[in-house]
Amino acid sequence: MIHPILLCGGVGSRLWPVSRGLFPKQYINLVDPDESMLQQTISRLAGLELAPPIVVCNDEHRFLVAEQLRQLGIDDATILLEPMGRNTGPAVALAAYAAQLKDDTATLLVLPADHVIEQHHSFQAVVAQAAAVAEQDKLVTFGIVASGPETGYGYIERGEKLDETSFAVARFVEKPNLATATEYLATGNYDWNSGMFVFKANTFLAELNHCAPQMAASTKLAFDNRGGDMDFIRIHAEDFAACPSDSIDYAVMEKTDNAVVIPLDAGWSDVGAWNSLWEVSEQDDNANVCRGDVMTHNVSNSYIRSDQRLVAAVGVSDIVVVETADAVLVADKNQVQDVKHIVNQLKADG
Ligand code: GDD
Ligand code: MG
Repeated sequence: MIHPILLCGGVGSRLWPVSRGLFPKQYINLVDPDESMLQQTISRLAGLELAPPIVVCNDEHRFLVAEQLRQLGIDDATILLEPMGRNTGPAVALAAYAAQLKDDTATLLVLPADHVIEQHHSFQAVVAQAAAVAEQDKLVTFGIVASGPETGYGYIERGEKLDETSFAVARFVEKPNLATATEYLATGNYDWNSGMFVFKANTFLAELNHCAPQMAASTKLAFDNRGGDMDFIRIHAEDFAACPSDSIDYAVMEKTDNAVVIPLDAGWSDVGAWNSLWEVSEQDDNANVCRGDVMTHNVSNSYIRSDQRLVAAVGVSDIVVVETADAVLVADKNQVQDVKHIVNQLKADG
């Protein structure tokens, strides 16, 4: 059985001031006015035959997650609560232990909760192909045609063609610098890593033991010493605190020689910063995306959002304005990756 694993412990700091510590982007109706990004991630699975979802989130967000699942009519999810973030490697390990408890041949479909995928049918078809390949004890990744030398993504070099749809992964490099990303792009042999994965829980845990034994051991201990009640599984705080913090990409995918990549062409995007939200949203005739009470004159290529007050803009282009009750962001649309520096500064100032 395929178990969907929803990773939603990230902070989403580049989408400040809407995404906040207490209310990060995956729980916000950012792209679809009716569903949060977590809910969209679950809804796009409709029609696939799957086990109930396993959600891995921060303890702070447990009621938010429970409420959003309830809104989707899901009452059989497993909700794993992390006492603190240890990045995606440990989160996937915890999910693998939880899935094994229910099903000793479980296959995991690992899904970040911050993606947009336009074509659900194509996506689901590729998931089915991936699940078949995962049966052969492979770690399956989804390769996205790279459209620029983005440094926020992992890069996958396609190796030997294995069958109609899949290739061996010759090399996996997480978030290379700009020069390296540009080089990779020029070869035409590299895809972006989508951040979604399919593998058997057993295959992943064996690989984790091999590539990151300390992470494997400390997550196992933290899971075995779990507490909690019917609805939530609480991961043991002290044991989990001792776990190394690392992403699945660095901890396993860069090191393993057992990975396969299947191309995914389904209108995928990672909504990491305001410019990507502008890209995936419907734009008006001047290529603006305006949300809430917004007036514009002679404005183009901009994302303007108001939560509380009227926001008016005149004679500007390529900007982002985001107004909320207690903060207003004004940024060059081409520099919105740096919004995280403001968030870091705010944290440092306490
Ligand atoms: N439970 C849990 N715990 N979830 C986490 C944690 C954690 O400590 N940290 C991050 N997540 C969740 C995020 O909420 C998000 O849904 C998902 O895991 C991926 O984390 P990101 O922080 O968004 O990763 P990324 O976008 O920088 O990089 C990954 O995705 C790219 C594509 O979007 C990598 O896999 C890249 O290789 C990939 O290209
Ligand atoms: Mg991401």
